Amino acid sequence: MTEYFIGLISGTSMDAIDAVLLEIDGEEIRIDATHSHPIPADSLRSLRRIVEHPELVDLAEVGELDVALGRAFSTAALELLEKSDRQPGSVSAIGSHGQTLLHSPHGERPFTLQIGDPNIIAAGTGITTVADFRRRDVAIGGQGAPLVPAFHRAVFSSADEPRAVLNIGGIANLTLLLPGKDVIGFDTGPGNNLMDAWARRKKGEPYDKGGAWGASADCDNELLKLLLEHEYFLRSPPKSTGPEDFHLEWLQTQLDSLHTAPSPATIQATLCELTATTVALALEGLVPEPGGLYVCGGGAHNRALMQRLSDRLTGWRLETTESLGIGVDWVEAAAFGWLAHRTMNRLPGNLPGVTGATREAVLGAIYPA
Ligand SMILES: Nc1ncnc2c1ncn2[C@@H]1O[C@H](COP(=O)(O)OP(=O)(O)OP(=O)(O)O)[C@@H](O)[C@H]1O
Ligand SMILES: [Mg+2]
Repeated sequence: MTEYFIGLISGTSMDAIDAVLLEIDGEEIRIDATHSHPIPADSLRSLRRIVEHPELVDLAEVGELDVALGRAFSTAALELLEKSDRQPGSVSAIGSHGQTLLHSPHGERPFTLQIGDPNIIAAGTGITTVADFRRRDVAIGGQGAPLVPAFHRAVFSSADEPRAVLNIGGIANLTLLLPGKDVIGFDTGPGNNLMDAWARRKKGEPYDKGGAWGASADCDNELLKLLLEHEYFLRSPPKSTGPEDFHLEWLQTQLDSLHTAPSPATIQATLCELTATTVALALEGLVPEPGGLYVCGGGAHNRALMQRLSDRLTGWRLETTESLGIGVDWVEAAAFGWLAHRTMNRLPGNLPGVTGATREAVLGAIYPA
């Protein structure tokens, strides 16, 4: 029987809310419609301040933001349905990732915090909503991230070709799908987030369109070497990260220890190389035989980054997930629609080998329509 699910996500880049309508029939998964909805400008300002300065958080502001984002997610789902001519009553469930405020999977009291009130989504759309996917995995010893590798396996694996799926969002995460082997998946480190932050600071632009700025200069190898010393890169999986670990203050500290300051364009080129290099290093250590590397996420639109990736990877065939049937901008949202399907059918959504959880678990909480 064919069922319909909606996936909603706003990633760490905070560029937009992505919404996808999925058609699931047994093993068959198809994308029926997609929609991108802007994050309201005042919410975005508030979000950036909270993420950059968690120590200044005003609790009332967080409460209101939770509501504002819940409403925006709800509107995104309704607009998606309008586009697709489908009625809310025909959708089995929405899977909403929410917006991450803080991801802190280590230490004595590990936690990960997503907001965008699912009660408001369920009430606003009239559709059962599944949300809070990550915290069950954290509750049983996992990182709560990445959660997309199980979806990558369901839609992108091949019986004979070694494949890797690389999602380049704010943070980059890699999934290895090797025939006959358990799935491996982890965050490799920064994806676009440092490049975005640098473009915002130096050019007042939300991101380096097409990677043109990053392509206009050479990488500074001395700076790259310093950046690669970040302890996250030395850690073995399971591991996950966020803008808490990679931010402009950290970059500034590394810049301060150089004798001569590189130009802003050189720094952008180096940040671009950092993303490509950390992915390449992660792959080299893990895969005996290269195959197809399928890129998704907004970083797939950054031509400088794709070029640097292709230069750094020997033997891998560089493609995008488009060639496997899902456009680069919609894989993450689709994954959360699929995770809602898993939860509604009481099927596990995490891969303990990936997140480090002690066992599989049905993820999330269900907010009835
Ligand atoms: N045309 C483009 N040229 C260069 N970079 C682009 C372009 N379009 C998008 N991007 C980059 O992609 C980012 C958005 O990517 P994406 O939505 O996959 O990340 P995200 O929201 O952080 O997702 P997630 O954390 O869930 O992976 C933008 O912030 C920007 O850096
Ligand atoms: Mg996004």
